Amino acid sequence: MALSSSMIALLVLAIVVLVKNVVSRLQFNSKYRLPPEIPGWPIIGNTLDVPFPGGVWGHEMAKKYGEMFTCRLGGKTMVFLNSARVVSDLLEKRAAIYSSRPYRPMAQDIASGGARMLLMGHSDRWRSQRKIMHSILNGQQAESKFIPFEELEVRQLVWDYLHTPDQFYTANQRFSNSVIMSVIFGRRAQLGDEQLTKMLNIMMEFGQLLFSPTKNICDLFTWLTYLPKPIYQHEVDALSDRVSKGTAKPCFATALIEGTSKKEFNLTETEKLMIFSTLLEAGSDTSRTAITQMVAAAAAFPEWAATARAHLDELCGHNAERLPSFEDREKLPYIAAVVKETLRWRPFIQTGVPHQLTQDDVYEGYRFPAGTMFTWNAYALSLNEGDYPDAVRFNPERFLNDDLKSPLKGHWSFGTGRRVCVGYNVGFNNVWIAAACLLYCFDFEEDTENPIDTLNTIWDSVEKPPFAVKIKPRSQAHAELIKQK
Ligand code: HEM
Repeated sequence: MALSSSMIALLVLAIVVLVKNVVSRLQFNSKYRLPPEIPGWPIIGNTLDVPFPGGVWGHEMAKKYGEMFTCRLGGKTMVFLNSARVVSDLLEKRAAIYSSRPYRPMAQDIASGGARMLLMGHSDRWRSQRKIMHSILNGQQAESKFIPFEELEVRQLVWDYLHTPDQFYTANQRFSNSVIMSVIFGRRAQLGDEQLTKMLNIMMEFGQLLFSPTKNICDLFTWLTYLPKPIYQHEVDALSDRVSKGTAKPCFATALIEGTSKKEFNLTETEKLMIFSTLLEAGSDTSRTAITQMVAAAAAFPEWAATARAHLDELCGHNAERLPSFEDREKLPYIAAVVKETLRWRPFIQTGVPHQLTQDDVYEGYRFPAGTMFTWNAYALSLNEGDYPDAVRFNPERFLNDDLKSPLKGHWSFGTGRRVCVGYNVGFNNVWIAAACLLYCFDFEEDTENPIDTLNTIWDSVEKPPFAVKIKPRSQAHAELIKQK
């Protein structure tokens, strides 16, 4: 059968692409040396091999390949770092050259006007945004701004758990969002808040595209061009309305908007919106997922929850005398350990956030080209038996050590190096106060008919619970305490 001319042309094209690919691989291999590569397909490499979420897969690969392995994702190369030693050697100690981000033309340039900090390269623009974020989120002054909102919102959280226990995950969303919303826009979030649901749905998809090494953000992320901006513009407009009516509460957004108009900050309109959007998205989605994880752990491993309650009872009364507060922090080291173990146990950014190398580098016999992406393989690091004996088990006691007061030490869930999460203090405190009050007030029981799959409790839909759990107040006295104004 004769081949048509178009089929011949296609065949020739395929051969040319393949030969080009082989030649460039040979040239690459003569100059560079990478850690063991997972075998993949010509051209697309491992693009179809890496699942999302990739935690369990990443852990399996780490067991097979050791401290580092390499994936080819379309035209990009990504090295997975699987031990604390190599993460620290490269992303921390060599942070000066391992702190950029891969270029994402659609999500960053087209959709975000180049202004979304999380996606920015290691540039002056990133430095100046990071400085603004740091001033809002860190230091004693910042902490004292957040604490009253955290203590107010946690009262609503326990109220919501008491009255609508089957919607505990929605209550976690509202709590986390309302804290950051109050600081940024001076308004609280309600249960079932339409703006919040919209934003979290965006974050779900954004998270998939961002944290899945295989998704082509450039092709798939087109909806970002129109969705987030209106959400935040809507918030800014509503705030302007409150300002003109004299009903606005003092908040970061008014300060930033005034500062920009007085030229104190050199920010474009898009940059301002992207700062708000980053703070609200990063501030809401992370804490709520961590709190949901903590609930899963309390139901699946009741022993540690009983120990936490015994500590809380000692301080706040065996008969529900008062809710725990931040003033109790010094006397409740166990709760800080609970937060660290929550972050360690099942890191929800399961295969890390890729950092990009900005110049060629040599490490232990390997030679990496500039542009290689490096990610800390979060699940593999967390489930490493050498660092965390009986790693699948939730056991806060592993964090009762000299590093207890350093939120970043002993786990990798806030990332590392220069790109380490800038909101880690706020995130830590959100989870601390939620854990203390929820554990003090409620019992969490696993549904034996429907046991919790603790390796996969987190990537839930925004509307649907990620797992079944029975939540009951510990006693009538605890229920009465929650109802007190
Ligand atoms: C439990 C809570 C949280 C967790 C586990 C978490 C985790 C992370 C991780 C893994 C990164 C990437 C780090 C890297 O690339 O090395 C990150 C970045 C970031 N986080 Fe968080 N985060 C949390 C809470 C927050 C909060 C409350 C805020 C702000 C209100 C925030 C704001 C940010 C920002 C702005 C970045 C980008 C930093 C950069 O690219 O330079 N995070 N976070």
